[in-house]
Amino acid sequence: MSKINAVITGVGSYVPDYILTNDELSTMVDTNDEWIMTRIGIKERRILKGEGKGSSDLGAKAVQQLLEKTGTSPDEVDLLICATVTPDMQFPATANIISDKVGINSAFSFDINAGCSGFLFSLATGAKYIQSGMYKKVIVVGAEKMSSIVDYSDRSTCPIFGDGSAAVLLEPTNENVGIIDEMLHTAGFGRKHLHQKAGGSCKPASHETVDAKEHFIYQEGNHVFKHAVSNMADVSVEMMEKHNITSEDLAWLVPHQANNRIIEATAKRMGLVKEKVMINIEKYGNTTSATIPLCLCEWENQLRKGDDLILSGFGAGFTWGAILVKWGYDPK
Ligand code: UT7
Repeated sequence: MSKINAVITGVGSYVPDYILTNDELSTMVDTNDEWIMTRIGIKERRILKGEGKGSSDLGAKAVQQLLEKTGTSPDEVDLLICATVTPDMQFPATANIISDKVGINSAFSFDINAGCSGFLFSLATGAKYIQSGMYKKVIVVGAEKMSSIVDYSDRSTCPIFGDGSAAVLLEPTNENVGIIDEMLHTAGFGRKHLHQKAGGSCKPASHETVDAKEHFIYQEGNHVFKHAVSNMADVSVEMMEKHNITSEDLAWLVPHQANNRIIEATAKRMGLVKEKVMINIEKYGNTTSATIPLCLCEWENQLRKGDDLILSGFGAGFTWGAILVKWGYDPK
């Protein structure tokens, strides 16, 4: 029997309408467009407004679009994996809620929390279920309402993050396309530099934790930056070398969108011209698990069957990694 590969056969995405610009942020904290553009590279980010709305509302819209674009019936889906650090609630999983909202009733579903590497970890996991021959249709969705954990009085974190969601469909193929290889890592020592202090089992929510603003993102930006630059670049170059892919051969780098300077440093180490790097951080900021599939969606019409893509990210955990993808279809 020939080898079964797991190939991405469609993408879908959704970002909320509300645009939070640098100018509006400048009225909330002591910052300005010039600092944010120079140090991070973000012009605006999307924010999900509305009482009771959560990441599942974003995820459901992305998955709905994916189902429609690929002509997939909800009943055909075997598994849905949601990558998120902003679940609707501690339990049940946001993946369960998304499945319910789009009418996926005969699949199983679960969440993966791997910080900004969540989409990479989830894609690798979903691919295994296809490659094993067990399932035929697996959806991987990154969905984040980052605005729910951002402290809009902290100028060192509030410009960075935005809300959004994007999803891919994985299916089996015997052709030499799809998820070719993965290099994924975690280093738990990094948790001290980027985490949410309260709300988990070691420090449940209380009046004190709320007063101390411990339900927001805590980030020591410099430490995270330093590790992000070296690890994202190292793992991406390692992937190129392992597969003898030159900077000319590689069609696209699809990097996590945390900071334009991290993306540029990674691309430089890989020897890539900027035309081969997907960058949309200016429009959406850091949507954590959604950045990479949001790029795939935006660039879908420029991708050709057989293109080599390296998906690369770094985030809380620390977590990081790269996935080599041979793109599976021409623009439809
Ligand atoms: O996706 C998850 C992983 N996360 C990341 O990859 C984020 C990695 N880190 C970063 O991207 C950067 O470290 C930040 C964007 C978070 C910060 O940029 P930075 O260049 O490292 O700035 P800094 O924290 O070293 O601050 C430099 C200066 C400070 O002022 P002083 O002490 O030099 O007077 C800050 O107070 O910039 C000041 N500053 C600001 N000024 C205007 C910090 N935030 C702002 C702001 N506007 N929003």
